[in-house]
Amino acid sequence: MIIHQIEELRKLIKSWKKEGLTIGLVPTMGALHNGHLSLIKKSVEKCDRTIVSVFVNPIQFCPGEDLEKYPRTLDADTKLCEDAGVSIVFAPSPKEMYGEGHIMSNDFLTYVIPPFFYVNKLCGKSRVGHFDGVCTVVNKLFNIVQPDFAFFGEKDRQQLIIIKKMVHDLNIPVEIIPCPIVREESGLALSSRNKYLSENGKKEALVLNRILFNIKTCYNKGIKDVEALTETAYSFLNANHTLEYLEFRDKNNLEEKKVADDNTIVFIALHVENVRLIDNIEL
Ligand code: PAF
Repeated sequence: MIIHQIEELRKLIKSWKKEGLTIGLVPTMGALHNGHLSLIKKSVEKCDRTIVSVFVNPIQFCPGEDLEKYPRTLDADTKLCEDAGVSIVFAPSPKEMYGEGHIMSNDFLTYVIPPFFYVNKLCGKSRVGHFDGVCTVVNKLFNIVQPDFAFFGEKDRQQLIIIKKMVHDLNIPVEIIPCPIVREESGLALSSRNKYLSENGKKEALVLNRILFNIKTCYNKGIKDVEALTETAYSFLNANHTLEYLEFRDKNNLEEKKVADDNTIVFIALHVENVRLIDNIEL
């Protein structure tokens, strides 16, 4: 079943809460793939009711990003959700979420701004304002759905860490459940943006997980110095790759690591065929 209106969803949630049912929320921007399905499966297993939100959130796109081009496949998404045992697909319009005239600049909308230390690095560096948009919409979804559990993929690890921080700092009564990265057999991490890659581009994109898994192997063999681990990446790169960042950071607070340890996550962002791809691995 699909619901577009906040009030209609609220009524239903109220009745579920009265019955004492637990609610799981899987926030998405649609174009669902097996990565999303793994989150949905976890929620359906854990919770009495699962809501999947499908909303291409305009305020998390930066100028020049692919808001118009972003894949919108609501019918297929709804069918996938129904087959997976989802109770409700919540698919609001921008007007429903942000109001008449959808005035979305921060002169007119109350935003949730995550701490600068968490957003001035990795993806936040090139996508200024992106995490303000993410935190604002996720906070709104939490207020609308009031879920007991919310499921986020580890693929967007910086997002996951920032959302956990927001939930902690704002005392939001929801438990965040992190879900592991789902990869194609080739090793490529699933992403809605993989659709933009040609067959050759998909092959070139394997460089992300090759670099990461090689670093993990080197770390397991005893190399801990981050400079030395970073250097192992360069032999994998060619003219088809534009490396945006390769960084070693603490898994809880994103502090930079000079010496890798078991709390380190290696983050990579790289462009192939003008498609920005991200991946990460825990050491
Ligand atoms: O990860 C995403 O798809 C989005 O950033 C999210 C969490 C659904 C917020 O729009």
